[in-house]
Amino acid sequence: MNSDELKKRAAARALELVTPGMRLGLGTGSTAKHFVDLLGARVAAGLDVICVSTSQVTEAQARALAIPMSTLDETPELDLTIDGADEVDSQLRLIKGGGAALLREKIVAAASSRMVVIADDSKLVTQLGQFPLPIEVVPFGLEATRRAVIAAITAVGAGGEIVLRRKPDGSVLVTDGGHYIFDAHLGTITRPEALSAALAAIPGVVEHGLFLGLATAAILAGGGGLTILGTLE
Ligand code: A5P
Repeated sequence: MNSDELKKRAAARALELVTPGMRLGLGTGSTAKHFVDLLGARVAAGLDVICVSTSQVTEAQARALAIPMSTLDETPELDLTIDGADEVDSQLRLIKGGGAALLREKIVAAASSRMVVIADDSKLVTQLGQFPLPIEVVPFGLEATRRAVIAAITAVGAGGEIVLRRKPDGSVLVTDGGHYIFDAHLGTITRPEALSAALAAIPGVVEHGLFLGLATAAILAGGGGLTILGTLE
C-alpha cells in the first residue's frame, strides 16, 4: 500500500468519529484533503455538520463539495478537528506547518475540544526536529526577527540553518495571514516546551509549528494496520 492509500485509511477511520450535528475543524494538507473528500460524500448522503477550515485551500475544497462552512466568529467552539501533521511523537507532540497553514491550524485546534491527527506512520518519530520547524513571522523587521529566532534556538541548546520559505518560482511564500515563514532545520528538538516558549516570546514571531498539548489522539496508518495514540472518543 502506498503512502497516499495509507493517508486515506487514516482519514476513513477519522470519519467514523464524526456524528450528526458536530462542529468540525478541517485541516490542511494531503491527508486532511482525503478526510474532506470522504466527509463531502457523507454530507451529500445527508450528514448534518458545520465546519471551519484551516486554510483557503481547504475552504475552497469543502465549499466545492457543498460541505456547510462557518467561521470561528460564528462558531467559536468546535467539537472535533481532524488534521495532518509533519511529525508526531509518542506524547502527541507535533510539528505542523509544512503546508504553511500552521497559524490557522493552531487557532482551530485550540478552539476544538478534541484534535485527532491523521497520518501515515512514517510521521511517527522518537524525537521531533528532523522535519524543519516552521516559524511564521511578520515581514516587518525580518532580519531582526531572524536574529532573535537564532538566539532563542541557541538558548535552548538547539541550532541549525534558518531558511526563509520560498515558492517554486523563487518568490517569498506569503501565508494566508500575510506573513512569511522561516524553516528551522534543527535535526533534533530535545526541549520542545522550552523552544515553544522561547519562540512565542519574540515579538515578530506570529506562531510556530510546535503543537504541544493540542492533539488528543493520532491515527497512524501503516502496512500492518492502524496505530492509535491517545484517546479517540
Ligand atoms: C499544513 O500546514 C500542515 O500542517 C499539514 O497538516 C502537514 O504538513 C501534513 O501534511 P500532509 O498530510 O500533506 O503530509
